[in-house]
Amino acid sequence: MSHYILGIESSCDDTSAAVIKDNVILSNIIANQKVHENYGGVVPELASRAHQQNIIPVIDQAIDRANIKKKDIHAVAFTRGPGLLGSLLVGVSFAKAFALSMGIPIVEIDHLEAHILAHFIQNRDKNLSVPAFPFLCLTVSGGHTQIVKVRDYFQMEIIGQTIDDAAGEAFDKAAKIMSLPYPGGPVIDKMAKQGDAGAFHFPKPSMPRYNYSFSGLKTSILYFLRDELKKDPDFIEKNKNNLAASIQKAIIDILMEKLVKASDETGIKEIAIAGGVSANSGFREAVFDLQASKQWNIYLPKLEYSTDNAAMIAIAGYYKYLKKDLAGQEVTPYARSSAAKK
Ligand code: KG4
Ligand code: ZN
Repeated sequence: MSHYILGIESSCDDTSAAVIKDNVILSNIIANQKVHENYGGVVPELASRAHQQNIIPVIDQAIDRANIKKKDIHAVAFTRGPGLLGSLLVGVSFAKAFALSMGIPIVEIDHLEAHILAHFIQNRDKNLSVPAFPFLCLTVSGGHTQIVKVRDYFQMEIIGQTIDDAAGEAFDKAAKIMSLPYPGGPVIDKMAKQGDAGAFHFPKPSMPRYNYSFSGLKTSILYFLRDELKKDPDFIEKNKNNLAASIQKAIIDILMEKLVKASDETGIKEIAIAGGVSANSGFREAVFDLQASKQWNIYLPKLEYSTDNAAMIAIAGYYKYLKKDLAGQEVTPYARSSAAKK
């Protein structure tokens, strides 16, 4: 018998709902919140309010697009955390109420595990290749940067992570220093294509094991530009593509060094990349450049499943539902991962 799972994601600034039939995605609706662009970052109060406005239309559309009826749904999977509490509360409360009214169970999902499990999503028309266990997943988003050793669907070990900013945040903060619009990652990516990545050099942090740090890079960009702007007020404008290319290279070099180290030392050659920064063209190139020499099998989910989306919540929900790992109506969201593991 097939199982239909409704997935709901509301951890940050995207309201998303998806329907999955076993491991095959039928719909994935994402409402982006444009309201934050004017503020140069996500404003939590505005995010939760926008989720309230978006959630019902987004869910209706996901069910319509999947061409099913509400009564066909077997369970509701939702992001419990980590994320912004006010945003999470909207999705969690909706999931509970919907499930209660339909008499079906709820399944709680960790947002970061879902980013990783997005690699197992199948489309209606084609069989996509999926990573074999154990694999390494480098999750790089606006909120997280971590290398995870994935032994099974829910047996994951974080072997390295950032101690301060995430890789996406490094892109966004560098863009802000250069007065570029938010989110800065895609803008820097585009400009970098026209620039020389060797034009400027920024120091790499020295971090133990597989850990990351990006705050030093931000500071060195800030000081470098401050000094250059004193000499020439048009320095950024004159060098913007070279700056973008050099900053992008610095971030990619930091990311790749630890990924290579983790693969070399664990012997794992199944390499998956997840999260919004995986959209970066330079980063994708850097990963594929090593494919032959390192004999890696590389897995990149489709872009719509890389940035925040509910399809990844639905696939994670499907596997958890099969394990009969259900949540109770008393479940509450968590803002940080460590809280959940306690
Ligand atoms: O996974 P995601 O959509 O949301 C979070 O969970 O954070 O990631 C968003 C992050 C932002 O920091 C954005 O600047 C970055 O991903 N990003 C990119 C690119 N597209 C999105 N960074 C670099 N290059 C891109 N093409
Ligand atoms: Zn995310």
